[in-house]
Amino acid sequence: MFAKFLKTFALMGAAVALTSGLAQAQNYPARPITVIVPFAAGGPTDVIARIVSEHMGKVLGQQLIVENVVGAGGTTGITKAFQASPDGYTIMMGHMGTHGAAPALYANLKYKPASDFEPIGMAAGTPILVVARKDYPAKDLKEFVAKLKADGDKLNEGQAGVGSVSFTTCVMFNVLAGAKPTRVPYSGTGPVINDMLAGKIDYACDQIVSVASQIQGGAIKAYAIATDKRSPALPDVPTSAEAGLPEFKVSAWNAMFAPKGTPKDVVAKLNDALNKALSDAATRKRLEDLGGVIPPEGAERTGAWLGDFVTAEVKKWGEIIKAGGVVPQQ
Ligand code: MLT
Repeated sequence: MFAKFLKTFALMGAAVALTSGLAQAQNYPARPITVIVPFAAGGPTDVIARIVSEHMGKVLGQQLIVENVVGAGGTTGITKAFQASPDGYTIMMGHMGTHGAAPALYANLKYKPASDFEPIGMAAGTPILVVARKDYPAKDLKEFVAKLKADGDKLNEGQAGVGSVSFTTCVMFNVLAGAKPTRVPYSGTGPVINDMLAGKIDYACDQIVSVASQIQGGAIKAYAIATDKRSPALPDVPTSAEAGLPEFKVSAWNAMFAPKGTPKDVVAKLNDALNKALSDAATRKRLEDLGGVIPPEGAERTGAWLGDFVTAEVKKWGEIIKAGGVVPQQ
């Protein structure tokens, strides 16, 4: 009798939870949504998050508010977002570092990129550039590499912390260039570039979207872009192959995720809003003017595609980092 009562009670509970879950999804979003950006304001992750969030807010009828939660190469902010209530009111902008390289670099990472999130969708591909202060005395990549080999230990390289894109891609670049610079950690590459403008940082490996306008304006110089083709946003910057270092080929990306357990309908609404932003002419122009590569319509705009991509990225970066002999932090 008591067992029967318990079963009925449990079924009623499940029905109530299901109904309120559905009601929640139908009314979603009823209030502003927080987008956790795990790096400082003004850097590539922040720039992309703010551009897409603006249009997503129009589609959803509620504002998306960016919150910068910095530290540990982006893993502090992503850990906070991972632990947030899975109700669609806290989402995050992750990237190749936080959702690709981080597991191989942090022994005690609290989240698993491939299984602890609901992937919303890819926001943009972000080619990597080797950039330097504008008065650095090397006219091209070959001269710069020669300088790095000769006195690289006197140079300051700015990066956004262990596991960040700038950290990981410059590990590759420094190995290829035979450089051993002083690696200066920051809370994001926004502040790295500010210090480069002030002459305190000599070089960095950064994502195109936050440096394109500084390069176009001559405030910093770019030695190479690590892609197969030149970027339409920076047609004068040679590819790493053209500049003489073809092995330096790497690209990064930024994508949105929700905490695991966020209702499917809510994730679908967020995916739809992101895709509408990526198809909106004004939003596209803002991203493309900064060199962002917008995913094509179709499979690459789905959460399922992003989930598979993250699995492949974690594997790929795990192998690269292991082969490079980098020991994970405790
Ligand atoms: C940022 O937004 O500052 C960057 O994405 C940091 C990085 O990963 O290099």
